[in-house]
Parts: sequence; C-alpha cells; structure tokens
Amino acid sequence: MKFLPLFSLFILLFFSCTKSRTVWLDELDLSNADQATGITRANQSMWRTPLVIASDTFARGIGTHAFGVIRVQLDGKTNFFEALVGVDDSAPEGELKQSSVEFVVIGDGHILWRSGIMHGGDKAKRVTVSLKGISSLILRTDHAGDGIVGDRADWVNAKFEFVGKAPYTVQRKREADYIRTPKAPVIPLINAPYRYGACPGNSILFTIPVSGERPMNFTIADLPSGLSLDSSTGIVTGKIDVAGVYNMKVTATNVHGTDCREIIFEIGDKLALTPPMGWNSWNVFGADISDEKIRKMADAMVDLGLTNYGYAYINIDDGWQGQRGGKYNAVMPNEKFPDMKALVDYVHSKGLKIGIYSSPWVQTFAGYVGGSADTPDGKVINSSRRVGKYSFTKNDVKQWAEWGFDYLKYDWCSYGGVLDRDLDKDPYSVSSLAFQGGGDSIAGRKPFKIMGDYLRKQPRDIVYNLCQYGMGDVWKWGDAVGGQCWRTTNDITDTWESVKGIALSQDRAAAWAKPGNWNDPDMLVLGIVGWGNPHQTKLKPDEQYLHFSLWSLFSAPLLIGCDLEKMDDFTLSLLTNNEVIAVNQDPLGKQATCVYSIGELRIYVKELEDGSKAVGFCNFDREKADISFRDFDKLNITGKQTVRDLWRQKDIKTLDTGRKPLSLNVPAHGVLLYKFTPVQ
Ligand code: GAL
Repeated sequence: MKFLPLFSLFILLFFSCTKSRTVWLDELDLSNADQATGITRANQSMWRTPLVIASDTFARGIGTHAFGVIRVQLDGKTNFFEALVGVDDSAPEGELKQSSVEFVVIGDGHILWRSGIMHGGDKAKRVTVSLKGISSLILRTDHAGDGIVGDRADWVNAKFEFVGKAPYTVQRKREADYIRTPKAPVIPLINAPYRYGACPGNSILFTIPVSGERPMNFTIADLPSGLSLDSSTGIVTGKIDVAGVYNMKVTATNVHGTDCREIIFEIGDKLALTPPMGWNSWNVFGADISDEKIRKMADAMVDLGLTNYGYAYINIDDGWQGQRGGKYNAVMPNEKFPDMKALVDYVHSKGLKIGIYSSPWVQTFAGYVGGSADTPDGKVINSSRRVGKYSFTKNDVKQWAEWGFDYLKYDWCSYGGVLDRDLDKDPYSVSSLAFQGGGDSIAGRKPFKIMGDYLRKQPRDIVYNLCQYGMGDVWKWGDAVGGQCWRTTNDITDTWESVKGIALSQDRAAAWAKPGNWNDPDMLVLGIVGWGNPHQTKLKPDEQYLHFSLWSLFSAPLLIGCDLEKMDDFTLSLLTNNEVIAVNQDPLGKQATCVYSIGELRIYVKELEDGSKAVGFCNFDREKADISFRDFDKLNITGKQTVRDLWRQKDIKTLDTGRKPLSLNVPAHGVLLYKFTPVQ
C-alpha cells in the first residue's frame, strides 16, 4: 500500500514526460525578439491594435514588423510549430498597399518553410512544420526587398507542440567589445565643430570642444564685442548684434602644450551650421523622466568629457508635460519637473544647451498633453474645435523661449487623423511653400510651418527638429517651414534589423543635406538604452561601429540615447573619436551616399571641405568581406592618395589608386572608415 503513492507519482512523471503539451508563441518571452521598428507584442499588432489579417480578427498570436527575428530554443523533442501568418490590417491604407512581407521558418540553419511574398489584404496562410530533432528555430519576417513600409506582420494562432522541455526564446549572442579609438593625448586638441550659427542679438552659448588634460587656459584673439570667454572652461557667452562672419583665433593651453585653431561664428539667419550633437532622454528612459534625471545627465555629459568632443544639447523628450496654465496658458511641466526655469538655468550653467519636446496633436505619443488639446488636461471637449486653430502654438512657444529652451522636437504623433478636415478649416495658407506634393503631405506641412513661424519670432535661437518620420519627403520642404533637421524614418530600435533598415533608406534624402539642414535618421542606440526598460544595446560591437560611422557619413544629428551615468569604456570610445566626429561635423555639410557596391559591401563616400573624402566600406553581409579593391574610379578617387583609418587614427599607406589595389578586411556587419587625401 505504501508504494502506491510513489507509483502514481512515477506514472504521473512518466506521462508528463511523454505526453505532448502545447505552448503558444504569445506566451513566450517576446522581449528577446528583434525587429526593424516598434516592439513585438502578444495578442496585439505591433501598433497596439487587435490582430487583424485581411479583415479576420484573431484573439491570440503576436504582432511584429519586418525585418523581424524571433529565436526559439528547442530540445529536439518539439513535435511541430503551427501558425497562420499575414500582414496586419492596422497600417494606413497607403502603407498597407505598399506592404510586402515574407514569413520564413528556419530550423538549425535550414529553411523549413517560406510563405512567399504576402501583401496587405492577403488572407492568412497556414504554416505547419515538423520540428523533430531540431534544436534552434528562427521565425523571420523579411521585407521582401522593397523596404519596410506597412510591413506589420502577424503570426497568429501560433503554437508549439512539445514533449519534455518547453520551447523558450533566446537573445542574439553577444560578442566581446573591442576598442579602436586611441586614447586622447594629454595635450590640448581643439575638436569640431569649428562653425557656429546664431541670429543677430540672440544669446550665444558655445563651449569650445577641447580634449586634453585640465586645467586648461583658453584665449580668443579678436573676440567679437558682445561676447565673453570664461578662460578656464572655454565657455563663450553673450550676443553679437551685427550680422556677419566672425573668424576667431582660439588657443587652448595646458602644462603639456598648446593647440590653436580658427573657429567661425556666422551671425545671420542660419542655425545648426553643423549637425546638432547631444543627448536625448527617449531611447533610454522613455517617458520616465524627471528634473533630477535631466540634471544628472547634464552632469555626466560634462564629467565624461563629452563636451570636449562637441556634444552640446541635453534634450528632454516626451514625459515632462502636465496641464495647461501659467501666464501664457501654455503646457506646464508635471510634478516631476518642479521648476523648469531653474532646470534650464542649471543646464546652461554647465555650458550646455537644452531641448524640449511637443506635438501639434491633442496628445503626444506617450499620452501627454499636446499642442492642440483644448482642455488643460489634454482631453478634447469639442472635437470640431480640437485642431485647426493652433490656438496654443503661440502660447507654448512663448513659454519655451521664456524658460530658455534652445531646441524643439516637434512630433506628429496621431495628427494624421484630422488632416483633411483640418486643411479645409485652417486659416493659415501653405500655398507659399515652394513645393508641390501629394495632397496629404501638403496638408501635413501646415502644423510644422505654423510652429516654425512662431519659433522664428522669438528673441531666442531655437533649433527646430521636425519629427514626422519622413512623410511627404520632408527633406524637400523642411527648410521652407523653418526646420534645421527632420526625422527621415520611423523610430529606431537597438537591433541590427532597425539600423540596417534605416541606413538603406537614407540616400534618397541626401541631396537636401547642407549647413543648417540635416536629415535625421533618429537617435543613437549605443550603450544602455531601452525606452524605460534599460539594457545593453543589442547591437554587436561591429554593428555599433557601423552605426556610428554611417551616422557620421550621413551628417546626421548625433544624439546619444543612453544612460550617461552607466557609460562603459567601449561606448565612450565610440562616441569620442574626434576624427570620426570631424567627418560628421565637416563644415561643407554634404551627406554621403552609397556610390558603389560589391554584393552586400556598400561603399559610402562623403566629400569633405579640405578636398579629401571620407569613405565607409560598410559590410551589410553576415560574412566578413576580404577583398582586393581596385575600383577607385567608381568612388571618384584618382591618383596618389594618403589612406587613413579614422577609427584607429592611423595612416595606412600612400596609394597610387590607378595602379595598386587596396586590401580590405571588413568584419561582418562592420565597417572600415577611411579618409582619402590627395597627395600634392
Ligand atoms: C515618437 C517619436 C520618438 C519619441 C516618442 C515620444 O513619435 O518618434 O522619437 O519622441 O514619440 O513619445
């Protein structure tokens, strides 16, 4: 009798080991999934709507976006995987039409099933694959070769049948970091930027970016009247009333030596003569921000020496807003920002500038009060009044200028929902804009134009970033509405899929980049990032080199998106290579494009002011590229050239490009960033 309970336990154990069980894909840990934009969600589309494929709604499954990768570990005893797949209906009609996704199931490196290219509106397809003996599974959503627009992809009713250990998701493997940037010398080195733009009479704040040991002494010959220099910090403040070009000879000296350089202030109507550099709160903290956190980031920016490399802005993103009120009936900060003016002053006192965030829509992306809400708490009482009057744009701008903000990120959010009706009613004309375009995009320019006009009327220089994800080819009209930079893409994530997707879509906007006008492929995803859920970036070290190199070649704003208090040596070395930054900050302001490719090795060339060329040999392939490169004519590089490795800051050789090849060993998903300077 005594053995009976033991026996039944044994039977139970036996059955639980041999009886097959089911686990649903939506029950697994989806935080390990990577995708080009947004995040993978359980039982919702990636856009937080119900899962709907060709008008059929599904209660369970996952919503993702191409390119997407989910890695599942099996124990070889999983029987099968089954699902229905298709493009989610949630994308706006125009995008849905453009969508094309291929779903692929890969087991132990072999393709087990592929859906073929599917478009928005196609009925869901069934996949059933046997997984016996397989230990590693990849569920991949490809963009089918034409970009990722509208590619919201669902795996619904997706389940595994298994015996033994339940399948579980895993992260991409991490690789060891390695530092290419040499340590900065102790002697002073004056780093880029060497140009600064401001309007006549508006306040100037410029910290001369100099690396080297402190203490240091700064002097400026011909300091224009109206400006003063703090000789121990190198912070220049004041104003210049008369428009013109002011060349200043700047000298920095410490016990080890001296550096001297010309820095030019252009006083006129142009701001951001080089791409803005700084930090923004969103990629790391999401909306979970406070006065205290922002101050800490400003402190860390200076303590880490990032200001010595040109980083100048501390930008507050979504999450600062409370209710409307104050002397201008503007959006006031919430309780986490008890005194905005004091915070702004604090950041300025460190020689840094400060940015703010808002939206023309009723609410922001994270649900805070936007510029068009017609009640103090952001709710809408009369929907016909809610937009179209922009009654608060003026109030908000006045308030920001009075607080002392230097940068605005103005985010479209859901503004599209009212676009057409809004266009009919709005008293502001957009006809003065020089460009023609699709109906939607013309209407969509309006809130940005109105904001741009108000910003320009303030007695303060406020750099204006248009955040509308590149709609209506914003690079063609962003300047006309008063912008200095504009997002060209949807939100970046810290995945290879995202960085690659964004990188490949930048060339079309390149021709519009110039001093004062920058294409913004979104903020950097290096270091500890996570949108409120902080973790080490999922990018591999070589991918991080590629990411920073490309953003430099693209003349993109360099906005750090990580927790500066948790900065590691590797990330700092990526962010503080003065020769790579000089490519980004080059005064000519050209944006590199891919001029030649060999397979997946894409070669980007950026012309620099001194007549040299920065060349990124960018390997988008999974395999390393070892080649003997001869096609210099394709890069428009001729004759004898000095070839310098910018990451290692080392001349490699003098090369007669017409005669000799250059041997290149580019890591998988990695880069060699070289500068070619003609030998005189
Ligand atoms: C998104 C924007 C992000 C971030 C976020 C804040 O629309 O693209 O960069 O600003 O809003 O809610």
